[in-house]
Amino acid sequence: MSRVKTLGQFIIEKQADFPFSKGELSRLLRDIGIAAKIVNREVNKAGLADILGEVGEINVQGESVKKLDVFANEQFIAALSVGGECCAIASEENEEIILVDNAQSKNAKYVVAIDPLDGSSNIDVNVSVGTIFSIYRRVSLTGPGTPEDFQQRGTEQVAAGYVIYGSSTMLVYTTGKGVNGFTLDPSIGEFCLSHPKMMMPKSGKTYSLNEGNYLHFPDGVKKYLKYCQEEDNATRRPYSSRYIGSAVADIHRNLITGGIFIYPATAASPKGKLRLLYECNPLAYIVEQAGGRATNGSSRILEQEITSLHQRTPLFVGSEDMVNKAMEFMQKYSPVSAQQG
Ligand code: AHG
Ligand code: MN
Ligand code: MN
Repeated sequence: MSRVKTLGQFIIEKQADFPFSKGELSRLLRDIGIAAKIVNREVNKAGLADILGEVGEINVQGESVKKLDVFANEQFIAALSVGGECCAIASEENEEIILVDNAQSKNAKYVVAIDPLDGSSNIDVNVSVGTIFSIYRRVSLTGPGTPEDFQQRGTEQVAAGYVIYGSSTMLVYTTGKGVNGFTLDPSIGEFCLSHPKMMMPKSGKTYSLNEGNYLHFPDGVKKYLKYCQEEDNATRRPYSSRYIGSAVADIHRNLITGGIFIYPATAASPKGKLRLLYECNPLAYIVEQAGGRATNGSSRILEQEITSLHQRTPLFVGSEDMVNKAMEFMQKYSPVSAQQG
């Protein structure tokens, strides 16, 4: 008997953690896992555009070739629509929420927010990209979901996860009882438990932010950055700078080795760049579940109020001690009172 535990087996085992559950959340997670495998297959073929057809052309199967973020969006929407557990989807790729209104979704209990392809500018250069998802229990009563179903704070998430399409493909998720990571074994087409009970180191020696925007960083971030670059044996400084430009990949690395990822407010993005609902909240939930911390520079990401579907927020996320230190600098040099609303 093999010792390998697949994502499907693990999800069924963990259902016992939720004694009154009827298995809907398990099925939802399974559907996301299936869509992730399909997206993974296409991501792996990304460099073959010259052979298989450029975006906009008709490929050999007679299908029009789509940008991968559009393709990923369609795959996740399709998977979430047929399962019968999800009654609405909020996606980075769609201005409005997508209502799932079919026979299967009539009694659906959940809504899903998703960034179908994160780091999409990295696709053409063979650098890791990801998918981020966040699951909430609906607040509306029946029928298709409503915008109010998504106006819940991150603390209300029932589950969250990401897929990283990297040198190997992994799915990492939490239902609020720790974080578990599964690596796709392409030979059997299954995600297999490879990183049980992931815990983030309390500190690390990697900082991750787009230093090209330095001139426009808040003073607190500028001063923290200088702190990262100073020499100090006790705190293992200078830290190393690593920036992939896919939040999923940068945060996944930091989750494993320790580190901090910052996307602050800048002149070009005065409210930060990343989206609260389907990027920051799910990543924050996972990081907190792994023992790390996530804030907007002054307060906890998961407690921010959602005022619109695509709202942005600054993000400071990673190892607890490092985020605490960055927050000290923010408090001292960029106190909330000095920031524009
Ligand atoms: P997306 O591809 O979903 O639009 O997200 C890209 C995000 C995030 O993944 C990454 O950390 C950040 O944008 C990179 O932004 P910069 O190029 O401004 O550094
Ligand atoms: Mn993104
Ligand atoms: Mn995206």
